[in-house]
Amino acid sequence: MSDRLHTLSGYLYEYQKSIAQPEEFWARIADSFHWRKRWDNVLKWNFDGPDVKWFVNAKLNITENIFERHLYTIGDRPAIIWEPSEPNEPTRTITYRELFVEVCRFSNVLQDKGIKKGDRVIIYMPMVPEAAIAMLACARIGAIHSVVFAGFSSNALADRVIDCEAKAILTSDGNYRGNKKIGVKSVVDEALEKSSVETVIVYQRTGQEVTMKDGRDFWWHEVMAGQSEKHVAEEMDSEDMLFILYTSGSTGKPKGVVHTTGGYMVYTQYSFSNVFQYSPGDVYWCTADIGWITGHSYIVYGPLLAGATTLMFEGVPTYPNPSRFWEVIEKHKVNVFYTAPTAIRALQAFGTDPIQGYDLSSLKVLGSVGEPINEEAWHWYHTHIGKGRCPIVDTWWQTETGGILISPLAGITPTKPAYATLPLPGIQLCIVDPEGNELKGNSVEGNLCIKFPWPSMIRTTYGDHDRCKQTYFSTYKGMYFTGDGVKRDHDGYYRILGRVDDVINVSGHRMGTAEVENAINEHPKVIESAVVAYPHEVKGQGIYAYVICDMTNRTEENLINEIKEMVSKIIGPIAKPDKIQIVPGLPKTRSGKIMRRILRKVAEGSLDSMGDTSTLLDPDVVEKIIEGRK
Ligand code: WTA
Repeated sequence: MSDRLHTLSGYLYEYQKSIAQPEEFWARIADSFHWRKRWDNVLKWNFDGPDVKWFVNAKLNITENIFERHLYTIGDRPAIIWEPSEPNEPTRTITYRELFVEVCRFSNVLQDKGIKKGDRVIIYMPMVPEAAIAMLACARIGAIHSVVFAGFSSNALADRVIDCEAKAILTSDGNYRGNKKIGVKSVVDEALEKSSVETVIVYQRTGQEVTMKDGRDFWWHEVMAGQSEKHVAEEMDSEDMLFILYTSGSTGKPKGVVHTTGGYMVYTQYSFSNVFQYSPGDVYWCTADIGWITGHSYIVYGPLLAGATTLMFEGVPTYPNPSRFWEVIEKHKVNVFYTAPTAIRALQAFGTDPIQGYDLSSLKVLGSVGEPINEEAWHWYHTHIGKGRCPIVDTWWQTETGGILISPLAGITPTKPAYATLPLPGIQLCIVDPEGNELKGNSVEGNLCIKFPWPSMIRTTYGDHDRCKQTYFSTYKGMYFTGDGVKRDHDGYYRILGRVDDVINVSGHRMGTAEVENAINEHPKVIESAVVAYPHEVKGQGIYAYVICDMTNRTEENLINEIKEMVSKIIGPIAKPDKIQIVPGLPKTRSGKIMRRILRKVAEGSLDSMGDTSTLLDPDVVEKIIEGRK
């Protein structure tokens, strides 16, 4: 790609240019894309609204930039390599030309079902190529997709269907998890009991029995049969919504983060090509699920825009055994491997035996995403997987940022374990103290903000612009606040310290403490609860819940199990508390505020540093909580 940086001095030069003349910088990057109509202005913005527009009045379709832009040159190159959960099942390889045909046919299906530009479509599917086809077909006809992770419960799915007023749901009969078949369509059925969704299209994956509602539910293979392979893409404005992705914050229900078309396209390709230093022909594998932003930007859009070969894996790292990842790397000669610290730590726990005998010599670059990577995991990854010769790119970013903002460029930026290192071109970071004063210079620590727009940034939260303003643009005036703490060391390198708000990061998945508390409180015997994070060896953070219960006719054990089930039902198994402690009371101030600081200390076991408890309404309660600690 012409926009690829090759040297450290090249990066430093481009970075300076991107700050001094951002519009010229991004216009040059954007020039390599296919625009049906060029922009009038590169950027118009203010962070008070917030109101941010990139490539103002430009017209395009993002899928034309994946397909029509590339087909003559790379039509026969594999776009997607699909590796099933079951190692004995055949792999699927889909070229750009074949993928284009499928996307066109499915675009015709969606339009036949009356789905139009601007309609919202929920995608609740396992990791099969059809999930990517579904996303791209939505983008091609201008429908706004909202992918919901297939591990979320019917309640969580229903909330999202209602919030975005979805017109259709694309799903599957079931999903494989290890050697088990999990119902997917059945979850959709439950979620749709009270909704007005008009169309459900079901991809047959496991062959398990499902109920189909006449006139609403259709089989993917039946509606695809006989569809034309030709489809003319809808013309989109650069600022038309491309997708909504729900994510947890510190308060209330998950919010729908909105990304738009032009800027997201330019930034995901640019960041993908540069961070991973992708070369044509490389096989790239990101182990995320398409239900998360990493799957959107770095399994589907970024790689496909760049003409890369992206590997999609249906399974989990430990099935049928903890060699599965290494076997897949050997089998497909993977060159770039991008995974999460939690997966590394889980595999590290099996020692190095499962790696023996696998040829990992194809690997050139390793990536990490989703949570801070601890030094031990970094070294293990570097030594045993990268054999000391592959640079690790520790990529920091968020659902809201759309793409990677802080990361080494593979093989270019000197790395340091546990450091995300330096910002990408165009990214103007700012560290502030709690009062919002910028902390200049090196060797400082504070809250991470961004003071200038970048193309793939969040535009709004769906249906509630004020929530976007309050959450991200009001804490510190004139800046986007990330919710993360950060340190800039003596070299000017950035190290992310983790969330400073009430968001927990469990195995790289974001969870709001309030969201988990609300789910716990749904249990009829629960009076009050408080949820905090504690360090967890594999998950990074675990969920610790303190619960006040009415214990009449109940044992502690069955109550705890029921509460876990309740959380699973309301949010999904990923939100299940790791530890639940039934407590007689919670430490509260005289004004009734729960002192979470104390609860965190107890959860992490730092019992001798409780700090000042004199403002507590009932200091004795702390003693009782410590006694019953799990
Ligand atoms: C955390 C995932 C440290 C961070 C792409 C952020 C990280 C949240 C890193 C966003 C990293 C992500 N080092 N922390 N390399 N990457 N995080 O929206 O706290 O699921 O705010 O996006 O994950 O999570 P999200």
